[in-house]
Amino acid sequence: MKKLIALILALMLAFAGVSAMAESLKMCTNAAFPPYEFYDENSEATGIDVEIAKAVCAKLGYDLEIVDIEFDQCIPGVQSGKYDFAAAGMTVTEERKQMVQFTDTYATAQQVVIVPADCEMTSLDDFVAANGTVKVGVQRATTGDLYMTWDYEDAGKGTVDRYPIGAGAVEALKAGKVDCVVIDNEPAKNFVAQNEGLKILESAYTTEEYAMAFSKESPIYADFNAALNELIEDGTVKGIIDSFIPAE
Ligand code: ARG
Repeated sequence: MKKLIALILALMLAFAGVSAMAESLKMCTNAAFPPYEFYDENSEATGIDVEIAKAVCAKLGYDLEIVDIEFDQCIPGVQSGKYDFAAAGMTVTEERKQMVQFTDTYATAQQVVIVPADCEMTSLDDFVAANGTVKVGVQRATTGDLYMTWDYEDAGKGTVDRYPIGAGAVEALKAGKVDCVVIDNEPAKNFVAQNEGLKILESAYTTEEYAMAFSKESPIYADFNAALNELIEDGTVKGIIDSFIPAE
């Protein structure tokens, strides 16, 4: 009996030790942004950002916990320490650099314009020339929102309708509530593939770089970025990207 109790106690201690070792990092994202973050057929979050974050955590010996929130909450959530980092197809901008620190970049993207397939306009300015204005749909607080607000709304050349997720802006386009949607190129390709009657204009609006965001006080930033760099250098990151973005 005593031996049994000793054994049980030893096992309990061992398990406590193991579970205490695997500390987890909390990543926030907005998982409606394929192929960077979305839910697979088993309702598991996956995508380029999720798999890169998992690989970095595995290398550093952390578990990864994913919290799906609205995109505009990602930077405040990281700043306040609610989340350890954000990985959300997030573009590095000067304004955001004032608020958070970014890892090295792991992907390049463009802001592109989605329009109805029969649309004859070739740019946003064509809409302005034809109608005196353009109605643009965007995902709230994204770079698409910022550029459209500055370049069209503030310039008096159009209006911007902001939706919580990109798919909401695409629905508005299909319903004729906006003339076009400005969003990142890979999600745009996904939305156009999943919805009939849409196309992407040939000329991209801007080119950007994606990185993960940490608070300026983050104690794990340096280790995380170093591990990410190793995974970029050894080809792991490229392998992950290629597995989600089929070569054209
Ligand atoms: N790249 C754009 C930005 O940084 C859009 C990112 C949206 N990401 C998302 N997971 N919904 O503003």
